[in-house]
Amino acid sequence: MSDHSSLPTPPLAWIAGVGASAGLGAALGRRFAREGYGVVLTGRTAQRVEAVADEIREQGGHAIAAPGDVTNEHDLVRIARELKNHGALSSAIFNAGNAVRAPTLELTVEQFESAWRTNVLGGFIFARAALSLLLDTSEAATGTVAERSLIFTGATASLRGRPPFAAFAAAKAGLRSLGQSLAREFGPRGVHVAHVVIDGGIDGERLRSAAPQRVESAGPGGLLQPDAIAESYWQLHRQARSAWTHELDLRPWRESF
Ligand SMILES: NC(=O)c1ccc[n+]([C@@H]2O[C@H](COP(=O)([O-])OP(=O)(O)OC[C@H]3O[C@@H](n4cnc5c(N)ncnc54)[C@H](OP(=O)(O)O)[C@@H]3O)[C@@H](O)[C@H]2O)c1
Repeated sequence: MSDHSSLPTPPLAWIAGVGASAGLGAALGRRFAREGYGVVLTGRTAQRVEAVADEIREQGGHAIAAPGDVTNEHDLVRIARELKNHGALSSAIFNAGNAVRAPTLELTVEQFESAWRTNVLGGFIFARAALSLLLDTSEAATGTVAERSLIFTGATASLRGRPPFAAFAAAKAGLRSLGQSLAREFGPRGVHVAHVVIDGGIDGERLRSAAPQRVESAGPGGLLQPDAIAESYWQLHRQARSAWTHELDLRPWRESF
């Protein structure tokens, strides 16, 4: 574990897209909190965000519940402003996503727009709010030169469009493209921008409640474990800046991709 005890306040990690305890957003919060980071948790459901924050505090970590909607600029600007009172932002992770699923002729304009709003517009609003803080974070505040990261959660659909995911794939591809633009703009300014392609189902509450048949058909070892994914995000965040990864793909060992 990193020792940040000599610093006035712990570095912060802001994770947007936190829902159930059994999900990637919560696992990311737990992972960064284990390293002594203050974790700021954002999701639309205050009760769930607070439950994850409580869980982290019970384990001795620092967590701040900051409910908000990534598609709402006011929410994210307000949270970013509040963050300044809690310390220096070291990592920002965009994990929100809505997997709109429908055959294209049944897909409504509202559904298509909603996928774009959450995944692309939300990614942009979050990145803009977080980048202003990340650029302010001095090396003295984080304790090391390389610890400023902005990481986006992608999916198989980020790279491959196929039905019934026309809306979701277009949106995730847009988010990936946003990440590339930001990496080229802000990498040279010291912010490590990365995109993680999650190439498979995540063994969490979302998949278990929305698509139990997928969990069944994946079988043992067929899904990605949230804590294992979170470990890779932590390693990405800690990478030396002379050898940064922009894109990482993760899949369970049984997946023949
Ligand atoms: N689950 C999978 O099998 C799978 C596979 C590949 C990639 N992914 C990607 O992994 C990420 C999520 O991982 P997960 O499935 O384990 O879920 P999770 O991290 O447990 O939850 C993500 C949370 O994001 C929140 N969210 C959605 N829209 C939001 C918005 N507009 N503003 C703020 N928060 C919002 C939702 O909570 P509220 O509804 O309470 O806001 C949701 O529970 C997504 O980017 C997804 O595309 C998932």
